[in-house]
Order: sequence, then C-alpha cells, then structure tokens
Amino acid sequence: MSREFEQTLKQYQTAVESYLDGCFTQDRPQKRLFEAMRYSLLAGGKRIRPVLLLEFCRICGGDWQKAMPFAAAIEMVHTYSLIHDDLPCMDNDDYRRGRLTNHKVFGEAQAVLAGDGLLTAAFHTASMAEAAPETIVKIIGILSGCAGELGMVGGQQLDIEGENQHLSEEQVYTIHRLKTGALIAAACRMGATAGGASPEQLAAARTYAEAIGLAFQIRDDMLDVLGDAKKLGKATHVDGNKNTFVSLYGLEGCRERIAEENQKALDALAVFDDRTFLTELTAILASREF
Ligand code: IPE
Ligand code: IPE
Ligand code: MG
Ligand code: MG
Ligand code: MG
Repeated sequence: MSREFEQTLKQYQTAVESYLDGCFTQDRPQKRLFEAMRYSLLAGGKRIRPVLLLEFCRICGGDWQKAMPFAAAIEMVHTYSLIHDDLPCMDNDDYRRGRLTNHKVFGEAQAVLAGDGLLTAAFHTASMAEAAPETIVKIIGILSGCAGELGMVGGQQLDIEGENQHLSEEQVYTIHRLKTGALIAAACRMGATAGGASPEQLAAARTYAEAIGLAFQIRDDMLDVLGDAKKLGKATHVDGNKNTFVSLYGLEGCRERIAEENQKALDALAVFDDRTFLTELTAILASREF
C-alpha cells in the first residue's frame, strides 16, 4: 500500500466515521432504537462503499466533502442489509464487524426495526445534501433502484431460495451481481452523479463497479473458507448450504475469476485522468483478508 493511498483512504474513512457518529443522537423516547441503529452502524466496517462514492465524486470533478450525506446514505443501506442478513430467519449469524450481531444484543424485533430505521434514514439523509435538487433526485433514484427488489433485496431473495439447491453458473452470477454488486454499483454511480460526471464517465463508473462488485463477493465467498474469523469480524465456514463461487469454481478458479474482473475494472478506469487511488484500491480488494 503506497503512503499516498493510505492517507487518502484514511481521510475518507475518518470523514465518514465522523459524519455517521453525528447521526441518531437525539434525546427522544425511541432512544433504544437509535442505540440499536448506532450499534451496527458504528461497529467499524471497512466503509468501502462510501470510499468509492467519495472518490468517484472527486475524480469526476466534484467536492467530495459535500457528498458526505450520500456516502452516509449508502453505508446506512449497507448496514441495514447486514443486520437483516444476519437474522435467524436469514443467515443466522452471531458475529458481525467483530461484535455480536444486532439481534443477539437487542433481540430480533429490535434488530428488524434498527434495519428499517437505517434504510429509511438513508433516504432522508440523502435528501438533505447540499446539492441541486435534480442531482439529489437522481442519486436517490440510483440508491433506491439498486437497494430494492431489482437490486440487493432481489439478490437476497434468490440467495435464500437457492439454499440447498444446485444452481447453474448463470444463476450464481445473478445472485452475486444483485445481492452485493448492486450496492457497490450504487456507490460508484452515486458518487459520479454527485461529481457531475459526463455520460461517458457515468458509463465507465458503472462498468468498473459491476466488475469489482462481482470480484468483491467472490472474495467474500473465498474468505468463508480461507479467512480468519477474528480478522473478518464474522464467522467462517458458514456457507455450506449456499451457492457460492467456491462451490462453483474452487479456490483457484475464484482467484482467476477475480483477476479477470479486476482487469475489466481497470480497463473501465481508462476514461479518468486521475485513477491512481482506484487502481490501488482495486488491487487491494482482490486480496483482502477482511
Ligand atoms: C459484507 O460487506 C457483506 C457483503 C456484501 C459481502 P463488507 O465486506 O463490505 O462488510 P463491512 O462493511 O466491511 O463490514
Ligand atoms: C451478503 O452476502 C449480501 C448482503 C446483502 C448483506 P453474505 O451473506 O455472503 O454476506 P456475509 O458473508 O454474511 O457478510
Ligand atoms: Mg446472506
Ligand atoms: Mg450472511
Ligand atoms: Mg458471505
């Protein structure tokens, strides 16, 4: 990791943490809900989606600091998806981001509401950004489209339906593209839109995001087999009944698929003059250990 990359990454992550830390702090009767929302939101995720959003905003010529509400919004939607993904009726996981899952601490009803609260607050937060109304509407359109039944929720649906079943290669790709790729694509497209991207830059952001989104979930599947639960902050060896890329291609095949997707991602970046940060980020994500 170059020093410059590390500094930029830290700058983005710190700004995101600080913005999120200012959320849901009001003294209201429903403060238990706020506590549950903050418990998962501030549990120290990698903040990859906000980082992508802010960097795309910057390289398209925008002021990334003004895009913070959009960055917070994508992280809220992502965190809600994790809280619900971990519920006993879904993946039934006990650990997330290095701590007990939301429902383990607060109970299932509270965890459902914490997710609902974060999902809804995301749109409210985005609507408050200091940007032209038509930009805000476009960004909210991207986020809602990618999060919903044609995006992440649709992918979760197919993932759950496909448990304990043999799915085709194409079906597994569809699940991964939707359940994980969609929110990563949202992040890149929201950032590019906030930065005032040209149609060519927007198309490139989308192509880049689709490739790294797929690679990201392939790596997630690999880490279920290879990873260290302590580093990952979640349990490993829990995907036994799922259709993963590891079950499809084996670990070596996964490495090859990630390299192919990364190459597509890097090719897409060619339209941007300043692509140093994203080039390094793409490489780091491919071999991430958490
Ligand atoms: C985990 O996402 C769930 C997937 C979509 C693979 P991340 O690996 O980005 O999790 P955090 O945000 O760093 O906790
Ligand atoms: C996550 O997929 C997709 C979401 C929408 C949260 P996984 O179920 O593989 O994510 P982890 O492994 O629990 O983080
Ligand atoms: Mg899942
Ligand atoms: Mg899961
Ligand atoms: Mg997983």
